[in-house]
Amino acid sequence: MSLSVIIVGCGRVAVKHLKSISKLNGLELKGVVDTNSDSAKRLLASVKGFADTPVFADYKEAIDTVKPDITAVTVPSGLHFQIAKYAMEHGSNLLLEKPMTMSNSEAREIYDLSRSTGKKIAMGHIYRYLPIVNILRQDIATGKFGKVTHGTINVRWGHGDDYYDSAAWRGTWKSDGGALMNQTIHAIDLLIWLMGSEPVEAQAMLAKRLRNIEAEDLGMATLRLENGALASIEGTTATFPSKHMAEFTVFCEKGMITMGLDSDIPHIAVYSLKSNGKTKKLGGYYIRKQFKEGGLFSYKCALNPHMGIYKDLRDSINEDRQPIADAYAGFSSVDTMLGIYRSAKEKRPVELPLSENFSTSDMTGYFE
Ligand SMILES: NC(=O)c1ccc[n+]([C@@H]2O[C@H](COP(=O)([O-])OP(=O)(O)OC[C@H]3O[C@@H](n4cnc5c(N)ncnc54)[C@H](O)[C@@H]3O)[C@@H](O)[C@H]2O)c1
Repeated sequence: MSLSVIIVGCGRVAVKHLKSISKLNGLELKGVVDTNSDSAKRLLASVKGFADTPVFADYKEAIDTVKPDITAVTVPSGLHFQIAKYAMEHGSNLLLEKPMTMSNSEAREIYDLSRSTGKKIAMGHIYRYLPIVNILRQDIATGKFGKVTHGTINVRWGHGDDYYDSAAWRGTWKSDGGALMNQTIHAIDLLIWLMGSEPVEAQAMLAKRLRNIEAEDLGMATLRLENGALASIEGTTATFPSKHMAEFTVFCEKGMITMGLDSDIPHIAVYSLKSNGKTKKLGGYYIRKQFKEGGLFSYKCALNPHMGIYKDLRDSINEDRQPIADAYAGFSSVDTMLGIYRSAKEKRPVELPLSENFSTSDMTGYFE
């Protein structure tokens, strides 16, 4: 039997959700919600076969009427908490876009609710769903590359002022945050997941270089992980909007793994250290292994990772297991990100997990 889905929020990212639902078996779109009915109609017209889908203006009415198995939360980030909470309290699983919430106490509440209700949350952490990532993570975790020393991410996801002007919530502390909270949080999640240890300390600096927004368009941070490894983070929207790049590197005693997206095209390079001290290139081995395990589907995910998230959520509900990017990933990445913001605000290293509540709204006035 198919799982019923509603999409709440019919803007930019919702198109990726709709395309994913249209390509997968076992999912049936039963409604879309938007306070702007034109956005809802535009979304439904963007993919063939959805023109007759019911449109709602109020998410509570949609959830009460449809009683969906899955609610996809694709509204501005500042609204995630209230919709995620209502949906779970009314029996729905979630595909919840990143960031989970704008404060660590709200993220904790959503995570706890997922545990107490047994409802699954798959986060919109697309990077966990890129091909080969999961295989590499297992190899790092089982020690194939030796001790993890450090990792880096560079997210250069250029957006011009036209992007920020396209919706009032973008780039505001209350509803979005800046380049780190919006464009970089799921990359931070991936790096920590690959490195296999939780962050215990954050230090950061923020800047506003080019964009006319309230929050940062450039952030740099260092994390210390529980296992002693360090992670370096660069996240910015102050680069060319025509060239989006995200790159991850994990350095180990006997291996170096670099992967990323360059203008939406994935790339990977894996090197291991041979006993004679020379390096061996392993990229081809991983590509073949992924193809054997995931077939063509994994390569379709490279072009639209949301397909991987929907498939994982569908299977996790049917098999009663946790999704790959689960509720804990949502909570933990928000907590780490807010630790980074707090460190920048208070100009000092901050211990993680945070011991007190902190929200993006606490950053209001940071650049004044
Ligand atoms: N995982 C990813 O790769 C990815 C990519 C882009 C955006 N996102 C996330 O998705 C979310 C949406 O981003 P976007 O760029 O699509 O935003 P958007 O502004 O393009 O779309 C948001 C939509 O929500 C609607 N909306 C606002 N309030 C509503 C309400 N109360 N009820 C129903 N609809 C409401 C708006 O009218 C709009 O159509 C953000 O949290 C963002 O961080 C994730």
